[in-house]
Amino acid sequence: MTARLDKLLANLGYGSRQNVRAMIKDGRVTLADGSPLDEDAKAAHGDIRVDGEPLDPPAGLVLMLHKPEGYTCSTSDSGRIVYELLPGRFMHRNPIIAPVGRLDRDSTGLLLLTDDGKLAHRITSPKRHVPKTYEVTLARPLTGEEGAVFASGSLMLRSETTPLAPAELVATGPQTARITITEGRYHQVKRMFAAVGNHVERLHRAAIGGLALGDLPEGQWRGLSPDEIALVLGS
Ligand code: URA
Repeated sequence: MTARLDKLLANLGYGSRQNVRAMIKDGRVTLADGSPLDEDAKAAHGDIRVDGEPLDPPAGLVLMLHKPEGYTCSTSDSGRIVYELLPGRFMHRNPIIAPVGRLDRDSTGLLLLTDDGKLAHRITSPKRHVPKTYEVTLARPLTGEEGAVFASGSLMLRSETTPLAPAELVATGPQTARITITEGRYHQVKRMFAAVGNHVERLHRAAIGGLALGDLPEGQWRGLSPDEIALVLGS
């Protein structure tokens, strides 16, 4: 696929149209053999270099990030944001790269980000029931009743009008558990434990659909392969 060079670079966040035209004029944008490209050039994405480096990936990017505590998913919140953990250019891409669903500021673990709005919708759509698995650490010991309450499909959270879909709980210790939910309601896991008289002290998302965070170090990100994206959707 080819696109006008200045538009392509600007959309990838290399700078404004004016900035990237200056980069092109300065001979910083070349083919792999070093021959400079001009503004009107139409070259294949994979053949273009900026300062000798291959271009960032084209639109259709899907990333996984191991979100650390203390970062928010929204640029409108104050404090550190997850974009600070990605290359600076990624925040200036068009279409924008956005988180798929949210993790609270104090939650850690698997966060997906993509510039593919349709894919994001497929993953978060309540109709699809994509399971999300969290590891929780609780303030108080489990009573043993929680699993049945969460699995019942009749748990109603405060100020909600429809009960939660059944969720699966596996105790992993006296005050730790793995919980799998298929919805994405506001602060859902914390509110579920509050509803049974407990309090979530630590919340870590370990998997979305069939895709696990694995051993990706905290604060690091990587692109997903088509097979991994299929795993998320369970397709
Ligand atoms: N549920 C929560 O309460 N918080 C999260 O960050 C994710 C799910």
